[in-house]
Amino acid sequence: MDSSTSKQSVYPVYFIRFGIILLALGMLFGILGGLQYAVPGFLKEVLSFERTRPLHVSSVLFWIILTATGAIFTYVQEHSQRRMYSTILIKIQFYLLGISILLIMACYLAGMFGGREYWEYPPYLSVPIVLAWVLLLINFIRTVDSFRNQPVYIWMWLTGIVFFLFTFTESYLWVLPYFRKHIVHDMTIQWKSYGSMVGSWNQLVYGAATYLMCKISGNQSTAFSKKAFALYFIGLFNLMFNWGHHIYTLPTHAYVRQISYAVSMTELLLLGRIIWEWKQSLSAVLKFRHIASYRLLFAADIWVFLNLILAIGMSVPAINVYTHGTHITVAHAMGTTIGINTMLLLAIVADILKHQQQGNSVGKTGFWLANISLLLFWVSLIVAGIWKAHWQMSANPPAFGSMMQQLRPFFMVFLISGITLAAGILLILFSLLKKELHVTSNQDF
Ligand code: HEM
Repeated sequence: MDSSTSKQSVYPVYFIRFGIILLALGMLFGILGGLQYAVPGFLKEVLSFERTRPLHVSSVLFWIILTATGAIFTYVQEHSQRRMYSTILIKIQFYLLGISILLIMACYLAGMFGGREYWEYPPYLSVPIVLAWVLLLINFIRTVDSFRNQPVYIWMWLTGIVFFLFTFTESYLWVLPYFRKHIVHDMTIQWKSYGSMVGSWNQLVYGAATYLMCKISGNQSTAFSKKAFALYFIGLFNLMFNWGHHIYTLPTHAYVRQISYAVSMTELLLLGRIIWEWKQSLSAVLKFRHIASYRLLFAADIWVFLNLILAIGMSVPAINVYTHGTHITVAHAMGTTIGINTMLLLAIVADILKHQQQGNSVGKTGFWLANISLLLFWVSLIVAGIWKAHWQMSANPPAFGSMMQQLRPFFMVFLISGITLAAGILLILFSLLKKELHVTSNQDF
């Protein structure tokens, strides 16, 4: 352990603060994108959809990744009652990631691309991200020290860190001519890596949420239970093999599709568990309803339930043929990253920034506004997706432009609920950050 760790590092909180700034910026770019859905050509000359989309998607993905990293630093120290192995490594990691993210945003604004969907910036900017991740892996392993008899969340973090490093690197194999030569192989690897990458950051976020749930209930035994490890293995299994629904439309080997379909269905076990434990969680929510984090965790549970139904539906090959390339995919991506990842991370931020007690009206209003808006937002995308799927499959489809015109009412609902969703999340953030913002109030969310 280096000498600079003798005092508490502020860098874990820096990761979280930077993440929050990216969330706010990301939502702003999202609203711009929504406006461009509803009013085609809006701001086309200055900031076209080709720029607002990656600006939005990268900002919100880095919100998830940075905040989860800050949470892991904080919680692994709380759990082990030890400081991180190296504060210097945390600092280097923070600056490597921070500078890369700023450069990525600048590239998008300047119209400099070169990457692929989701990571559309010039590929060389991924090198510092990979380096930062290697530092995280070293720091995490050295801090935990021994993996014997550790709770499930330590394994979830380790899995998330290792698999993110692996899948992020794998998603860049296309820069090598050998992988670019065969289009089907190339696309298979690309979508496989993206599918598993989502599973990796889920392990980071779910691990932190599991730690937080044990902390709120004051009961660590659930994190050592056989059931917790069984669920962890189902998650790991899915992370490794359920990406097949991303490539159903590619002419690849049938067994790839069959295996991944079978694996996706193991998620039904997770769904079953949620329904089974529903009543129990309802009584717990009453018990802990004064705790801001608990309410957000409970909201995430409902979003897991709704999104799992959608995801299981989309994994059925006969349905996937219709949903592919429609707004249903966007509903799935945003429903999970907002409803599950963002709600869980907000719960974690509330805990780490210590704004837990009672309830204030700003936080509660934000909570309800965000969740009701998200429901409308999500449903409008699904309905628009069903409409588009019908258009894609019809024998004599009307022109694309006229189909998009028919979708306009749904895009208006999407835009308006997107604005109120962003307002709700900002209210939650405001109530969590008010001490940092030096706003005096004697109540917390
Ligand atoms: C916590 C907040 C948010 C998160 C985590 C989030 C996440 C995402 C993700 C992951 C995508 C990529 C979807 C895909 O490729 O299938 C996306 C796309 C998009 N999001 Fe969001 N989003 C958020 C808030 C918003 C808001 C408030 C709006 C406002 C209307 C919005 C509008 C859009 C638009 C227009 C797209 C592009 C969809 C397309 O490519 O057709 N997002 N978002």
